[in-house]
Amino acid sequence: MSTHNLLTYRPNLHFAPKENWMNDPNGMVYFKGEYHLFFQHNPNDSIHGPMHWGHAVSKDMISWEQLDIALYPDDLGTIFSGSAVVDWHNTSGFFPNEPGLVAIFTHHLHEEGKTPVQRQSLAFSSDQGRSWIKYEQNPVLVHETKVDFRDPKVMWHNDTNKWVMAVATGQTISFYSSLNLREWKFESEFGERMGSHDGVWECPDLFELPIIGKNESKWVLLVSIGDNPKLESGSRTQYFVGSFDGHRFTPHHKDIKWLDAGKDNYAGVSFSDIPEMDGRRIYLGWMSNWRYANKVPTYGWRSQMTLPRELQLQQKQDSYAVIQTPVKELDSYFSKSDSLGNVVVSDDSPFQLELNTPYFMFDFVMENVDAASYSITLHHTSDQITTLHIDTKKNLLLLDRSQSGKVDFSSNFTHVQTIELDCTATLKLCAVADSSSIEVFVNDGEYALTSLIYPDKICSKLSVSSEQGTINIVKGIISVPSE
Ligand code: FRU
Repeated sequence: MSTHNLLTYRPNLHFAPKENWMNDPNGMVYFKGEYHLFFQHNPNDSIHGPMHWGHAVSKDMISWEQLDIALYPDDLGTIFSGSAVVDWHNTSGFFPNEPGLVAIFTHHLHEEGKTPVQRQSLAFSSDQGRSWIKYEQNPVLVHETKVDFRDPKVMWHNDTNKWVMAVATGQTISFYSSLNLREWKFESEFGERMGSHDGVWECPDLFELPIIGKNESKWVLLVSIGDNPKLESGSRTQYFVGSFDGHRFTPHHKDIKWLDAGKDNYAGVSFSDIPEMDGRRIYLGWMSNWRYANKVPTYGWRSQMTLPRELQLQQKQDSYAVIQTPVKELDSYFSKSDSLGNVVVSDDSPFQLELNTPYFMFDFVMENVDAASYSITLHHTSDQITTLHIDTKKNLLLLDRSQSGKVDFSSNFTHVQTIELDCTATLKLCAVADSSSIEVFVNDGEYALTSLIYPDKICSKLSVSSEQGTINIVKGIISVPSE
């Protein structure tokens, strides 16, 4: 008899649907004191199927209340990914009285024996997303040739006083502009000879990000790339840093930049309409991978989102990197912190701390590393373990989840996930471990590594051990919830 129930592996800090299937975050928008998260949802099964928009709201992006389904399939098709904006000045004409929300999404029509058709459509809500009216003249945007034409992300572009849409067109991103959200004009197409083309391009997002420590900003274009069965990585997200003039995006680099070194962060986009005085660009992704998403061993529900993360841009010489750190709202979910003094870890003197906690976060700074390697257990039960190995000879950080618990649902799940970086220099590691995930942020978010795990018990301890030498943990803060 199966001992699984709806609670098995359920996260404490991450959004997961009450029941059945979820994939991409959609329509993330802040309006009247609430963060809205819509999501790709099949309410009738726990595998991908006819898509709806599920809906949840939150005051802090950590605790979510799931509401009724927002958008159901109709004659034009099922409801694929898209975005939502606040139409503050009634440009659409949908809101004669007060500003409301407009959702811009893909209608996906797949009739038997026919090639699928993807078109962009609108729905609007005057009651904070509780009910939606589909625009009677849908679809508002079609493509003459592209079969893959989906995932519109719309934003208000101040300099040109227009709405701008980034939408995936096969293996490129196309930009359109509009004055009223209903009529769209083609502006440009980006990406044919840029970036990775390992798979179909999906779920773009375009936004301006300030450069840390400078009075300057650049534009960032996120592009998720679908699974390619020939590669080990599965689905993943790349990004470009450049400029955008309201018509055309111009990247300022030729190299490929990946948003996450882990396997389980896909189709992420950022919130719209976070108030300017807040000034944050907040992002979250779908914490799964198309390679095995339909097979992960949860019962009655499938998939969860990453933690919401603040994005910023870091400049090193001529290169720019998107850095990501969990939002500050997370801190209030930890009521107890242990601060370690300087701890020296050597071959015969590992560091160990009993935890017995459903979730925890740690913040470590390592210095004076002369060990050949060292390891931190990120999740440890009596017989299951997820370990971060730091190999100072190869300058590699490796996450090993091969013994983490249930792993046999996909041969791809046990492959190590790696980050290449100078491991003998000062290394700052922050990690958040929940019941079925690990999110690692390295050097103040310069690298992120997001990974699902399926241990059958809560985490019992945290340990740090070294091989052939010592390391110094010069700062160590371990935070747990109250009992
Ligand atoms: C990305 C994606 C989107 C699409 C949706 C369908 O994960 O394939 O391109 O809109 O999922 O559920």
